[in-house]
Amino acid sequence: MTDQNIRESKDQLWGGRFTGKPDERFAEFNRSFGFDIRLFEADIRGSIAHANGLTGAGVLSSEEAASVTGALRTMLELAGNDPAYMLLDVEDVHSFIETRLIELVGDLGKKVHTGRSRNDQVATAFRLWMRDETDALIGKVRNVQSALVVLAEKHRSAVIPGYTHLQRAQPVLWAHWCLAYFEMFERDIERLADARRRTNVMPLGSAALAGTAYPIDRESVAQELGFEGVSRNSLDAVSDRDFAVEFVSVCSMVMVHLSRMAEDLILYCSQEFGFVKLSDAVSTGSSLMPQKKNPDALELLRGKAGRVFGHQMALLAMMKGLPLAYNKDMQEDKEAVFDTADSVSICLDVAEITLNNSTLNEQKAREVAGKGYLNATELADYLVKKNIPFRTAHDAVGRLVLAGLEKGKELNELSVSEMQTVVPEISEDVYEALSIESSLRSKSAIGGTSPVRVGEELEAAKKKLES
Ligand code: ARG
Repeated sequence: MTDQNIRESKDQLWGGRFTGKPDERFAEFNRSFGFDIRLFEADIRGSIAHANGLTGAGVLSSEEAASVTGALRTMLELAGNDPAYMLLDVEDVHSFIETRLIELVGDLGKKVHTGRSRNDQVATAFRLWMRDETDALIGKVRNVQSALVVLAEKHRSAVIPGYTHLQRAQPVLWAHWCLAYFEMFERDIERLADARRRTNVMPLGSAALAGTAYPIDRESVAQELGFEGVSRNSLDAVSDRDFAVEFVSVCSMVMVHLSRMAEDLILYCSQEFGFVKLSDAVSTGSSLMPQKKNPDALELLRGKAGRVFGHQMALLAMMKGLPLAYNKDMQEDKEAVFDTADSVSICLDVAEITLNNSTLNEQKAREVAGKGYLNATELADYLVKKNIPFRTAHDAVGRLVLAGLEKGKELNELSVSEMQTVVPEISEDVYEALSIESSLRSKSAIGGTSPVRVGEELEAAKKKLES
């Protein structure tokens, strides 16, 4: 049969069985081209590999494959040169590519969908897209880590009060704070890389749900696309979206870390804390109160976390009741993933910029670290060295803190005789033990805030950034 005696629908990839036209509002509702246009390049790559697979399977001759793949590449150029090329009233990016291909190579373009369904096609394009995006995000997390290392080195020996329950607890090095977030982002990078591994499996060749009926060498198609392997079950391959859920969930974790870091800095740059100064580049003013300088950049980092968590919930809820295999519900995956990637990407950029525009007020932070009995634990440790059991020492120091509070004095402002009324074992050497330096120095086990340990970790961090 030739085209003349086959009636084809001009508008859809699936018109033959239909006699009626789709309702216009439904067609609009059904259409994903407005957003899946972002898969254009990935879907072209997938289509080129599929055409080569069809050649291996004897469906296309080498000449036919050459003209199909050539046309697919031309399409990328045409789109690059003229944005209007992308304006076409089609259902989705896959329909767009097939329609444009037929424009370029005529009936030959109608062969390219042999042995393939949009179900394995979209899963393939989506995975390719997400793989690239994951790589880009890993690079951006690295940039935030670099900014943290730079900020640590800018204030190499500065001290801040460390908090638990947001109550002053013990002094820590500023660099220790910076490296705490470095560690969180390091794990995020591991998670992104791990998620990437599971994303990098090729569904193409699963066709609609049962597998392709053509002898396509899936392994070599996968190799051409840089996939590490091929899916082992066609039903699973066209209908799983774990990789999308996992991507958004790893991104949620990144946002948790960005948001906590933002929250710390928002507190630190308030007048109440006064440790951190943000430059004008990342601050805003108030339309009413002339004196205000607000940390909007940081607040948006914190706020956008909620948006990404929302996408994670949306994906989980969308998937939970779906029968095997593909269901159109799954088209909803795109916007959730695209907006997640966009949000995390811009947040990572802004986090890097904000860190680069942050300065620690070393004097203020140190002053605060010296007030509020942050050396109480050190006094207990001092008594432990005098052979007093820790629990007894803890109790005695508690009573000394009470005495200090009554007299309006810090522990190191009490005289030896004042201290001896509570603990006779205390002597003149107590003041050395109560100093911030001694407190820091004593935390010398791995992971502690002693200057030596933090110095080692800073070097290790720099090595990671170089590799
Ligand atoms: N736009 C669709 C999606 O994103 C492509 C797959 C459509 N497949 C189908 N059988 N209708 O999921």
